[in-house]
Amino acid sequence: MDFMIILSIETSCDETAVSIVEANGGLTEPYFDVLGNSLFSQIDIHKEYGGVYPMIAKREHAKNLPPLLLKTMTEASMYKEVNISYMDEMWNEIEQNLSKEKGLCEDLRKIFGKVLKPDVEVISVTSGPGLEPALWVGISFALAIGKLWNIPVIGVNHMEGHIASVLLGKTEESSKSIQFPALALLISGGHTELVEIKNWGEYKILGQTRDDAVGEAFDKVARMLGLPYPGGPQISKLAEIARGQNLPHKAKLPRPMIHSDNLDFSFSGLKTSVLYYIRELPQLSESDKMDIAREFEDAVVEVLTEKTKQALNDMNAKNLIIAGGVIANKKIKESFLSLEKEYSELTVKTPAQSFATDNALMISCATYVNVILYPDLLRKQNKIIANGNLRLN
Ligand code: KG4
Ligand code: ZN
Repeated sequence: MDFMIILSIETSCDETAVSIVEANGGLTEPYFDVLGNSLFSQIDIHKEYGGVYPMIAKREHAKNLPPLLLKTMTEASMYKEVNISYMDEMWNEIEQNLSKEKGLCEDLRKIFGKVLKPDVEVISVTSGPGLEPALWVGISFALAIGKLWNIPVIGVNHMEGHIASVLLGKTEESSKSIQFPALALLISGGHTELVEIKNWGEYKILGQTRDDAVGEAFDKVARMLGLPYPGGPQISKLAEIARGQNLPHKAKLPRPMIHSDNLDFSFSGLKTSVLYYIRELPQLSESDKMDIAREFEDAVVEVLTEKTKQALNDMNAKNLIIAGGVIANKKIKESFLSLEKEYSELTVKTPAQSFATDNALMISCATYVNVILYPDLLRKQNKIIANGNLRLN
């Protein structure tokens, strides 16, 4: 069964996202038509604290999931009221399952008590990695609506979602599918990892960060420079100005582990070097900030590119996939796209800008791949557990 309508939920960090897509084409020519897509970013709420607080994220997800689902279903023309209300026993059971999310159950009942089952084959939800309290809200919610409408629910790995995000978007590219073997570099707020992909579902982590993730380093350095959360976009803005104005290169930062004989990364030392550099300055001027931002970005680009080349040299990758929120960074993206000139057989794939950071569509893409690979997922009751450290195996 190649044609499938998928409803997905993503709550692993600070974005609450729900989407409904129509998937088709199988694994050779996967194609996704977006029927509905909603996202609420909690950035403004977490900004005050300079980072994401899991319990606040959880509360916000619980508050926003029912209205976002309603919005997504309406957009997909799937919101239809009917004159039946689901049996009380059903709600009792859902209430029990949602005992830790009391308010969520009430909202769900208020909004979806008399809604026709949408025409959806599968509901999917991110089960990890991420913040566990945040993941649990999404999972409980997905299971509740799965129960209500008798639709199978499956758990999806967020990192597989980032990989699959390159399948999204309409372009005239000859093929949106991935050619294997492929190498993926996943760069986000929580992860930095190089993954060998022999085929869909066959992953091997070749290297990863030993401390901070690259996005986390962007966020922490931004905080040192007095810039708001999330820091990635702020740093790249300042770095761009520094390059545009050709500011003198004063700050010199290390390129951690760039020549190590493994594929691991380390960004915590880089962050500390920024701290020491700032301490030595008589004062942190605006041009100092721009200079530091540029040097930091250059250091990150060089390390990421060099390590990826090391991995490419050891395998015959047809595709290089760079995904995760940090690929929204223009400088990093450019550096990787230019690798196509160095490796003539290689095609570099990155998600369209709007799908780089967390969203539910990427979860739908990964769901499609999983259901095609393991059709049994639709036939059994799946136990879904939040796993903050879920790995690609
Ligand atoms: O994938 P994502 O949305 O969430 C996680 O799964 O972590 O990634 C968020 C990360 C944040 O650390 C943010 O600062 C970073 O992506 N980011 C960027 C840029 N836009 C977002 N980092 C560098 N440059 C950017 N333009
Ligand atoms: Zn992510």
